[in-house]
Amino acid sequence: MSLVFAAPDPEAVPVHVIEQDGLEGWLAAQPDHVANWVIANGFTAALGSSCLVPSETSRIAVVLAGYGTAKARSRGRFHLAAIAMSLPKGIYRLEGLTEDRVEEEALGWLLAGYAFDRYRSQKPAVAQLVAPEGVQALRAEAIVAGEVLTRDLINTPASDMGPADLEAACADLASNFGAEMAVIRGEALLEQNFPMIHTVGRAADQAPRLIDMHWGNTGPTLTLVGKGVCYDTGGLNLKPGASMGLMKKDMGGAATVLGLAHMIMALELPIQLQVLIPAVENAVSSNAYRPGDILTARNGLTVEINNTDAEGRLVLADALAFAAEDTPDLMISMATLTGAARVAVGPDLSPYYCDDASFVGALESAANKVADPVWRMPFHTPYEAMIEPGIADLDNAPKGGFAGSVTAALFLRRFAGDTPYAHFDIYGWNPAPAPARPKGGVGMGARALLEALPEMLKL
Ligand code: BES
Ligand code: ZN
Ligand code: ZN
Repeated sequence: MSLVFAAPDPEAVPVHVIEQDGLEGWLAAQPDHVANWVIANGFTAALGSSCLVPSETSRIAVVLAGYGTAKARSRGRFHLAAIAMSLPKGIYRLEGLTEDRVEEEALGWLLAGYAFDRYRSQKPAVAQLVAPEGVQALRAEAIVAGEVLTRDLINTPASDMGPADLEAACADLASNFGAEMAVIRGEALLEQNFPMIHTVGRAADQAPRLIDMHWGNTGPTLTLVGKGVCYDTGGLNLKPGASMGLMKKDMGGAATVLGLAHMIMALELPIQLQVLIPAVENAVSSNAYRPGDILTARNGLTVEINNTDAEGRLVLADALAFAAEDTPDLMISMATLTGAARVAVGPDLSPYYCDDASFVGALESAANKVADPVWRMPFHTPYEAMIEPGIADLDNAPKGGFAGSVTAALFLRRFAGDTPYAHFDIYGWNPAPAPARPKGGVGMGARALLEALPEMLKL
């Protein structure tokens, strides 16, 4: 498979996309031997099914790709990706798709080419697609490259993706696009007033750090903040084994904002972009922070630690407070912040918080358009009381187990000042293989945001 389109090729094999109720009419227009072949092969145009039709010289004349019904399609996305993966090596072109479906399917075809191959040899490239008419090829390829970056970063285990490695990945991205990058590491975090990033990360071998990337000189300002917890053991409130297993993905927010940053820079959006990543490992050591400790955040709020496993909101808080000092036009955080978000909406939806109606409108229609589903959650102000019961201003881990994702979002909002703010509590992981989305790390919400940014920022 390939993550880019093939050059136009007159020999490209047509992949004829056909809905279930269009099959009869199509068959009627074919010569007998073609119709008989298709029927003999039991092809019904069910969604995801396919049939290779030979030519008289025993080449593939056409591939029929079953497109089922609208109802069947509503249960998934990227419907041609599985067919693309099953095809023999060659160059293909799509036909028969309606204009409104072609972008998603072309993207899905490219994404089907993704495999996490860092630790094994790569599979040979097989079915390549010629960019269909109506698809902006370079845009689709930039989106795929951003998504691939996100997936690779998440899939790489913590042994090769510690805070220093995440910094190196950011430096690579910055140098590819001529972005500027500054990093505040270790003790310098204390000197420059990022106390909570330091506290959470100080027990690990690789020093905690705040990565700060800038790109673009003109236009509205957008700041993306991503949770970069490279491994989350839970700290002294150690996670049980089953909960810790996947915690290499706890930098999924960072990986997703970096993927989005890649898309924004590759497509040269006319904005001024800042990416902030607090990169830490939540480790266990004699100098680890403790339950009961009280921290003072960058913005002066005090936080009582009632669970060292609620570390994400702490490192994000300092980064958000820092970003808010410049009051960007829009600030967005992405984080694998709570197990509660996964319980609420499962791994397929990106739950997000935002109280700006125009942001919500732009995001919802973009998400729908680009097959990157999101779900709005409430910044429910009456729950503010839940995050402030103790002897400090804030509690990092409210007891009671109610609305864990909401209270985490409310906690973060305390650090956003007056800046227009949206927060995504993503899962960052696909637990079961799906078309164009193999099991493993996956970007969530980035494509929707990219699509919505022009409207959100009035570009
Ligand atoms: N990284 C986890 C959240 C998480 C867990 C995301 C599983 C996705 C899947 C986070 O740091 C955490 O452990 N949060 C705690 C907070 C609690 C102690 C208040 C949680 O959600 O249980
Ligand atoms: Zn945690
Ligand atoms: Zn975490």
